[in-house]
Amino acid sequence: MKKIKIESELEVFEDFSELPQEIQRLMEAAFEARDSAYAPYSEFHVGTALLLSNGKVIKGSNQENAAYPSGLCAERTAIYYAGANFPDETLEVMAISATAKHKPTTTPIPPCGACRQAIAEYEVKQKQPVVIYFMGASGKIFKSDSLSNLLPFLFTQEYL
Ligand code: THU
Repeated sequence: MKKIKIESELEVFEDFSELPQEIQRLMEAAFEARDSAYAPYSEFHVGTALLLSNGKVIKGSNQENAAYPSGLCAERTAIYYAGANFPDETLEVMAISATAKHKPTTTPIPPCGACRQAIAEYEVKQKQPVVIYFMGASGKIFKSDSLSNLLPFLFTQEYL
């Protein structure tokens, strides 16, 4: 028996002002996207802004449903919009911000497992990593240079 160790490396920015300017703009688009969240059940508002290779910024927010599992996270709303409308573009950078209606969030809030799997699919498809920045409403921001830092043992098409 042998053991294997898996390591991830992320960058930590102390706050919004430490981000590069173009990323501040992208994160601001994620803040705006949060305002269009339809989240009457969780009251947890997530916004994402996705920069494509053609320079367009796609915004997504979580969209809930009375039949709970029918709702969709902010990240996948944006990713699937990009896939459907700009199938030939690369997903370059994703900025994510989340906050609860009655509880401002101050720690970085990562994309859920299902969204990580969706991002993984596009990294494999485009043969290029997606850079991901994520935060709460304020406070530290984590940057991952690739989805694979956030999801070890990717399940991909190579197994099919
Ligand atoms: N949510 C997202 O939009 N993204 C995530 O990565 C985690 C969770 C949404 C789904 C649901 O509308 C609410 O946050 C509470 O789980």
